Amino acid sequence: MQRRSLVAANWKMNLTVPEGGSVAQGILGAASKRADTDVVLCPSFTLLHHIREVVAKSNVKLGAQDVFWLAKGAFTGEVSVEMLRDHGCEYCIVGHSERRGRFGASELPNELLAYFSDSDVVVERKLRAVLDGGLTAILCIGETARERNEGRTDEVVASQLKIALSSVDESEIPCLAIAYEPIWAIGTGNVCEPDEAQRVCELIRSEVGAHMGSDAANTIRILYGGSVAASNCAGLFKQRDIDGALVGGASLKPDEFSRIILSA
Ligand code: 13P
Repeated sequence: MQRRSLVAANWKMNLTVPEGGSVAQGILGAASKRADTDVVLCPSFTLLHHIREVVAKSNVKLGAQDVFWLAKGAFTGEVSVEMLRDHGCEYCIVGHSERRGRFGASELPNELLAYFSDSDVVVERKLRAVLDGGLTAILCIGETARERNEGRTDEVVASQLKIALSSVDESEIPCLAIAYEPIWAIGTGNVCEPDEAQRVCELIRSEVGAHMGSDAANTIRILYGGSVAASNCAGLFKQRDIDGALVGGASLKPDEFSRIILSA
């Protein structure tokens, strides 16, 4: 089955308005050559307004990095799905390991990590809100280095997936992409070998099939994320069960991200 490629940039907490505008401008050319690929920029909330204007006449879509699951109310600092839609977002990342408080290499002291603590249940609620609000969700799952060393990769990934998907209906699969992001590969330059990334993405696809049937498994888009660069993306994109990438650091460099878009 031919699935449409998806290449998404997660800018994390980087770039000012002028910097973000110039990075976005710098990838429009590459994106315009790829009518067969969804290219999505996920800047910080403060940049959404400006980046929306920069990409307005292009095929580049806008996404957010996180969301709160309730519609409105006394939730200081939070942002709702409707607010994201207001700003032109069509995508939203949900359950990124950094929001789950599961870091690979982090300079944060342990007592501060507790402030980033989306549990599997919170991730499930956010996913529900994003789908109910008519956006496309990019659901992130992945294991820590320790879990991998203990041979628990498959169990961790399957469990995160099961909880997140518990209320997802097969009809919603076109509005969902899953990003396999091994935490030890994020921001480390230590990319997962393509064979191993393929093995886990195949497992994810078969878990989706077990929960929702073979049509859902064949339709769902699965991305790889973690130290994706122009120099290593071709090997990943060749894999049968990898339909694109969620790119962090390399997406801040327009030339590098353009090369990734062109090889998807
Ligand atoms: P890097 O590409 O910087 O490793 O980040 C990956 C990531 O976390 C994307 O969401």
